[in-house]
Amino acid sequence: MNIAMVGFGKMGHMIAQAAELRGHKIVCSVDPFARDASLVTGDAASMAEGVKNSGAEGVIEFSHPASVFSNIQALIPLGLPLVVGTTGWHDRIDEVSAAVERGGGSLLYSSNFSIGVNLFYRIVSEASRLMAEFEQYDVALFESHHNQKADSPSGTALELAKRVMDGVPRKTRLVTDAFVRKPEADELHLSSVRVGSVPGTHTVWFDSAADTIELTHTARNREGFALGAVRALEWLQGPDQSGATKKGIFTMKDVFNDI
Ligand SMILES: NC(=O)c1ccc[n+]([C@@H]2O[C@H](COP(=O)([O-])OP(=O)(O)OC[C@H]3O[C@@H](n4cnc5c(N)ncnc54)[C@H](O)[C@@H]3O)[C@@H](O)[C@H]2O)c1
Repeated sequence: MNIAMVGFGKMGHMIAQAAELRGHKIVCSVDPFARDASLVTGDAASMAEGVKNSGAEGVIEFSHPASVFSNIQALIPLGLPLVVGTTGWHDRIDEVSAAVERGGGSLLYSSNFSIGVNLFYRIVSEASRLMAEFEQYDVALFESHHNQKADSPSGTALELAKRVMDGVPRKTRLVTDAFVRKPEADELHLSSVRVGSVPGTHTVWFDSAADTIELTHTARNREGFALGAVRALEWLQGPDQSGATKKGIFTMKDVFNDI
């Protein structure tokens, strides 16, 4: 497949490498600062024009939380399969869904493309449903990432928190700030640390007076994200079960159901 990369930083380069190893061709890379990008611009309209003219059959967006939304808006009218890894815009999913429907294309997004994290999501959902029956257990989340990460908490941590709250009905409010008072029983605390080069660690604790159950996913490097993003685009570009072109909004959950 001919692929366009929007955002050619650490992830962009790694995805390009993973895509080429799987037989794809990077026909366009767009970034306002990367000197080795084929198109050096931060303007969303020029980026979309460049992607359109490159002959790309699919697009992968890993840029910055400040630019992702305008990039998505500019790319949707091209009607190409679009995979978005940048986080920080998921609260505007309704707007994006409506635009994708109008554009007739497809968009797949995930706060985390690693296969291990997607398995971890399922484990946390299942554990939360199980622990909900045992009121003696409190629950909290912790995440740590490298000190170049622009958003906090991570999109992955927010997804985990959502899953914990879906599973444990006694937790109804997420608190991501430091506590300067005692937490209320219905508050779910999620804390974040930024340090050095950590690729990403997420922990969910279930804690009682007697013991602690700790579930942790530790990313060792970014290769898992890169391969997952390429596989997501391959899946999105492929036909659905009836042989038709996929249209609309998808997540890694859809990819997993089909793998
Ligand atoms: N979903 C996932 O699995 C996953 C995994 C890792 C990182 N991420 C997210 O992906 C994003 C990129 O991560 P990274 O580690 O490559 O960061 P990075 O800082 O190394 O690269 C980001 C690149 O985006 C470029 N950029 C800035 N504005 C742009 C614009 N308007 N158009 C195009 N490019 C633009 C920057 O110049 C930079 O080169 C971050 O938001 C990160 O949180 C997601």
